[in-house]
Amino acid sequence: MSCSKLFPERSGYEHKICSLHLGAANGSEGLRTARELYPDLILLDYMMPGISGKEVFITLATSEDERLRRTPVVMLTAKTDNHHEQRELLELGMAAYLCKPFGHHELLNVIDNVLITSQIKERNRVLEAESRQSFVSTVRALISLLSIKDNYTGEHSTMTADLAERVARSFNLPDTEVMHIKLGGLLHDIGKIGVPECILCKPGYLSPEEIVVMRQHVHYGEQALAGVPHMETVRAIVKHHHEWWNGGGYPEGLKGEEISLGTRIVTAADAYDAMTSDRPYRRRLSQATAIERLRAAAGLQFDALVVEKLVECLSTYNAEHAPTLSLKFLERLHHAA
Ligand SMILES: [Fe+2]
Repeated sequence: MSCSKLFPERSGYEHKICSLHLGAANGSEGLRTARELYPDLILLDYMMPGISGKEVFITLATSEDERLRRTPVVMLTAKTDNHHEQRELLELGMAAYLCKPFGHHELLNVIDNVLITSQIKERNRVLEAESRQSFVSTVRALISLLSIKDNYTGEHSTMTADLAERVARSFNLPDTEVMHIKLGGLLHDIGKIGVPECILCKPGYLSPEEIVVMRQHVHYGEQALAGVPHMETVRAIVKHHHEWWNGGGYPEGLKGEEISLGTRIVTAADAYDAMTSDRPYRRRLSQATAIERLRAAAGLQFDALVVEKLVECLSTYNAEHAPTLSLKFLERLHHAA
């Protein structure tokens, strides 16, 4: 395609594009050039010798190279009767579809609009990356604070999150919901930052007065997350992870399915990990004993279906190999949020 034919004098794009020799005689050459030079924009003829414009675009749109995938492509074509295909290509990410004949001004207007949109998308991408980094840092800071205050609760939260994710997946829940449940597992006890250490780390059973103070952690946690966007599921888990299936829990005495599934999952995972961990006032229970206790409390404290799903997951679960709080995991959480 001849650049001088497409871009008249004073178009504003003539030197920028043509001086870089970005023209290509066919699709294969165009792909090679795109991979070498990463142009700001690609104008593509639909009908070309060798591979078609459509094939070139699909190769770019499905490339492993993110920069190529993001390059805006404008298809130029004489075919005017293929609306279905046009829609298909636009859905695949094609920036614009321009049917011949068109004038220079029309083409330049399309190019202007596509480049402006591309710049806005790039800016959004940068903002998204900054927002992701900020989210990851905030969650890490919260868990670090909790670990400093009470190392057991920090580790226990990571284990609970890992187990809750496995159980959530066994319910075939959407990935976004699974990630929220996992984040709920991670942050469920975050309110313990507000509980005095003499109670939080007491090497023995708590007095009735101390229990009242300890129970405040569900409110502290919920309040800490108030106003954080897209955290409704997580806040519900934080607030209600001590509710019981039979209504005997706190803070609101919710029962059965009034408690969200995500919360019921975290509640069971939380109890299992607590039972199988060493505490100052008792040794850890074996997996078999912990399962026995979970089953004994199914229908009372726990959702019986969740208990059975958790027991199924435990048959292939090795707590020793549970992942730690990885950057990748937190980034996935941010995408889901
Ligand atoms: Fe708790």
